[in-house]
Amino acid sequence: MKKLFIKTFGCQMNDYDASRMVDLLRSSHGYHRVEDPEQADLVVFNTCHIREKAEEKLFSELGRLHKMVRTARIAQGRSAEPAAIFAVGGCVAQATGQEIFRRAPFVQLVFGPQTYHRLPTLLTRLEQGGGPICDVAIAPESKFDLLPLQEKTGAAASVTVQEGCNKFCAFCVVPFTRGQEWSRPVDAILAEVAGLVQQGAVEIQLLGQNVNAYQGMDKSGLPHDLPLLIRRVALLPGVERIRFVTSHPADMTDDLVELFADLPQLCPYLHLPIQSGSNRILARMGRGHTVEAYLEWIRRLRQASPEIAIASDFIVGFPGETEADFQETLQLVEQVSFDHAYSFCFSSRPGTQAEQMGEHLPAEVSSARLAILQERLNAHQWLNNQKRVGRTEAVLVEGSAKKGSGELSGRTPEFRRVNFPGEQHWIGHIVPVQITEGLPNSLRGQIARTAAVVP
Ligand code: SAM
Ligand code: SF4
Ligand code: F3S
Repeated sequence: MKKLFIKTFGCQMNDYDASRMVDLLRSSHGYHRVEDPEQADLVVFNTCHIREKAEEKLFSELGRLHKMVRTARIAQGRSAEPAAIFAVGGCVAQATGQEIFRRAPFVQLVFGPQTYHRLPTLLTRLEQGGGPICDVAIAPESKFDLLPLQEKTGAAASVTVQEGCNKFCAFCVVPFTRGQEWSRPVDAILAEVAGLVQQGAVEIQLLGQNVNAYQGMDKSGLPHDLPLLIRRVALLPGVERIRFVTSHPADMTDDLVELFADLPQLCPYLHLPIQSGSNRILARMGRGHTVEAYLEWIRRLRQASPEIAIASDFIVGFPGETEADFQETLQLVEQVSFDHAYSFCFSSRPGTQAEQMGEHLPAEVSSARLAILQERLNAHQWLNNQKRVGRTEAVLVEGSAKKGSGELSGRTPEFRRVNFPGEQHWIGHIVPVQITEGLPNSLRGQIARTAAVVP
């Protein structure tokens, strides 16, 4: 059986794509996924273009792995020729295309996020000696119609419902790498979810770059926005939890807020990136909303669902960001007390409006601001974790805890990670766990034996 090693970078949509490539290549060419690249006949890098560092890392990692795989093949007594096939997909591939062959001449195949469904044909062409191949043309056909049924990877599964982005925030490459905003038809989504539930998934995460801008149709021609789509997913038997990610503040609606109060399956967790606490910077970023509008959505969300966990993203050091702008970001952090956040130094990306703006900040200024911001974000996350101590949380057990010790690991509805001692047969079930400790990045607990729901 042929062996496939995939390394994926970037967002959850890239993770989703990587798992779909595995499904696809299993059914077309009999590949199965391995964790050890030294065993691989095909090595795929599924790349991310969002920040410059990731791109630099890609080429050094590609070179390192190529050497390692070649040496291992010779040591295993397999001939170095034909060598393992190296392929690069994802957003860097989409943005740079043929340039990848120049920087890594051993790469034989380059494909994009909208062409990976053509992998079987491309591989066959390669096997027949037709390489190297670069296929990054945005496909006229829907890739989703051409993918095999998704194989479940755990109790929590993801389904892409919306792709691409039309917002063109001044700093961001996504509209260039993923293309125009496009929503999958409702019935295709429901069929994929039903297939996952049949294989044992109990939590479904709906994915999109701007998932709350979802606008799809069902087969009767009825338009669905995200709240209606979520209601339809919740009607499928076996769906116990629903999440969706990532939402844009400018696409928030009252219907979506109400859903947190109304729909028991919808987890009280919302990832709502704000990027900056300064209206001046938000306008320069082209985000299309103010700090006040953002705070108003947070107020309504907490009114609808008092326990809701709020996560966000921040960029510091955007061109023209003054110390006063940065102080406004810190103020916002104190005001909202986020449960979780990702934060980054601004990275100038090719083709974006921000690249052309003046007033780029020295790297030391951005890094110093990032350190201060992260200290505050971490402090709030820890504080909010500590507030859970003494409560009993419904934890979906996803698997064994990473650091050995025979413990289990799962998530609360608010997406907090919980590690606790337990039995392997609880994996895949929702069990009650009493929280005993709130750590900076996770919770610790013990099973609440009084409850009768432990399988
Ligand atoms: N669509 C989402 C939104 O509008 O919030 C975010 C998508 S992007 C894949 C994820 C995060 O990467 C962004 O929220 C932003 O914080 C960060 N990001 C995007 N472009 C960046 C850049 N040029 N420099 C630094 N961080 C960036
Ligand atoms: Fe990028 Fe902005 Fe689109 Fe998010 S909304 S993907 S940050 S352009
Ligand atoms: Fe990166 Fe592409 Fe996702 S640029 S963040 S992998 S959409």
